[in-house]
Amino acid sequence: MGKKHENKKQWSEQDFERSNIEWIDIGVEGLDTFIPGLPQGDAILVRGEPGTGKTILCLQFMKKGIDLGETVVYVTTEETPKTIIRTATELWPEFQKLVDDKRFIIVNLSINASYASTYSLINKEEALAIVMRTLGDLPDVKRIVIDSLSALKRRLADESEFREVYMKLLLETKEKGATVLMSAEGIPMTPDITEYLVDHLIYLDYHKHDVLWTRVFILRKSRSVPLKPQILKLNIERNGLSVEEIPISLKPVWFQTKM
Ligand SMILES: Nc1ncnc2c1ncn2[C@@H]1O[C@H](COP(=O)(O)OP(=O)(O)O)[C@@H](O)[C@H]1O
Ligand SMILES: [Mg+2]
Repeated sequence: MGKKHENKKQWSEQDFERSNIEWIDIGVEGLDTFIPGLPQGDAILVRGEPGTGKTILCLQFMKKGIDLGETVVYVTTEETPKTIIRTATELWPEFQKLVDDKRFIIVNLSINASYASTYSLINKEEALAIVMRTLGDLPDVKRIVIDSLSALKRRLADESEFREVYMKLLLETKEKGATVLMSAEGIPMTPDITEYLVDHLIYLDYHKHDVLWTRVFILRKSRSVPLKPQILKLNIERNGLSVEEIPISLKPVWFQTKM
């Protein structure tokens, strides 16, 4: 990473001097070449197939906040806290210390959490109570992750209650003034409620050409952000995600596939 910062910024600093928005860095290296940041306190949804980098994006969003001295909370509904922390520690060896020092607060709604209800399914009251208990103890929380909404829906004894749980969580995080990053599985053919209600929508995907698969990052919608629609190349490396323009060397492949 690092080399991406040689890219020329695609937005003008002057235009943002008069902006009354507080811009935050979501932690993706190189994204500041394309946008000034995202507005603090907004709701962000990242969607993509398995293995596209959603969880790493969520972790990087948390790590950025911790580095800035913020209070952060990670709600995991799919992976157990153990694997989440293992992934983070692979990326940043100092992460275990952040966990030990309680800088990385994790709320376990995954399959290995213990619940009052049977068969590891939870009802909406219990799911919300678990999250609210932690948030209630943290009045100054700045960043919240919910990874993933799809697993949260599956964990509910009555899946039809998902909409209520989702809207309640969104409302609570907004009221706290925290920026929330949520993940969901797949990119739907037609947008659904999760996509319409958020302020920013990120797609992580692969561009497939024969045996060559390129990871891509697409900022699909972004309220109040001057956005030039484009597909960026996504890299997942030893220390996390970074984005850059599609390199010239890959462009012939892309154009060929369009013909
Ligand atoms: N330490 C690492 N170094 C490099 N690449 C990694 C590392 N950890 C995970 N990856 C890659 O990142 C991919 C995305 O992982 P993840 O964020 O868990 O995907 P998702 O949450 O979208 O299913 C993995 O499938 C793997 O290819
Ligand atoms: Mg994941």
